[in-house]
Amino acid sequence: MVNTQVDLSGLVLDNPVIPASGTFGFGYEFAELYDINILGSIALKGTTLDPRFGNPTPRIAECTEGLINSVGLQNPGVDKVISEELPKLKKVFHKKSVANVSGFSVESYAKTCEKLDKEEQIGLLEVNISCPNVQNGGMSFGTSAKSAAEVTKAVKAVTTKPVYMKLTPNVTDIAEIAAACAEAGADGISLINTMLGMRIDLKSKKPVIHNKMGGFSGPAIFPVAVRMVYQVYEAVDIPIIGMGGVSSAEDVIEMMLAGATGVEVGAANLVDPFASKKIIEALPAAMEKYGIHSLKEIIGGAH
Ligand code: FUM
Repeated sequence: MVNTQVDLSGLVLDNPVIPASGTFGFGYEFAELYDINILGSIALKGTTLDPRFGNPTPRIAECTEGLINSVGLQNPGVDKVISEELPKLKKVFHKKSVANVSGFSVESYAKTCEKLDKEEQIGLLEVNISCPNVQNGGMSFGTSAKSAAEVTKAVKAVTTKPVYMKLTPNVTDIAEIAAACAEAGADGISLINTMLGMRIDLKSKKPVIHNKMGGFSGPAIFPVAVRMVYQVYEAVDIPIIGMGGVSSAEDVIEMMLAGATGVEVGAANLVDPFASKKIIEALPAAMEKYGIHSLKEIIGGAH
């Protein structure tokens, strides 16, 4: 019998697999397809202080081995997430979830996190300072060590649950940003969010996406994600949730060898709604194939 259990700052998961924010709604939508309690946890749809309609369409561009999105943080706002979405999830998911929080100011990050911190269904706060699809928010906080640290400190000051800062790969030195978050009190680091990308339609000769650019995700970015998780593991002593193009049980193992404790599955859920389930079911056989008895033992094993 293999052991797939992992521990994210005291949040013990049956397995490291977590559907990534923005690819799994508020989770309950998938309960119609299968028993979502097999998941390690669920990273919920990105939540902001106020409701957001999102960006104008088109918001999606298909690419080889991935896709570009420019959703623009569409969500009902934190109060409705708490009053309407979490109760629906509670009926079908009996584990703690990961709240994913975005903001447009340091204060709005802190206020949104403070509200979600009071919810017993939430086990961990993933603070998204990496959304590439909004102006004056999201990624602008994650591209400087100083502002990443400011958001971290502000959130930590008003919360009790583990705070994981979600970082953007669209920087020169991601290890420096991760180290600044750790120094400011982050309990963990999530990475990577999407890579800034663009497609141009040959018929119209104009960008496919209304906002011109968007975030590229999918299997094509997996090697970049592994590289960055590896670099961040060397820079900080706090747990890492690795993500970016994870599509198989073997990818989960590779991400953990690079340094991840938890592993989020993103774009794969959009291609196949059963992707996270299939990965979890395939993990024991993949572990046996590579002589792994306990996933905990392989974290950072490639270093
Ligand atoms: O546009 C979006 O909602 C994407 C968010 C993100 O990548 O963090």
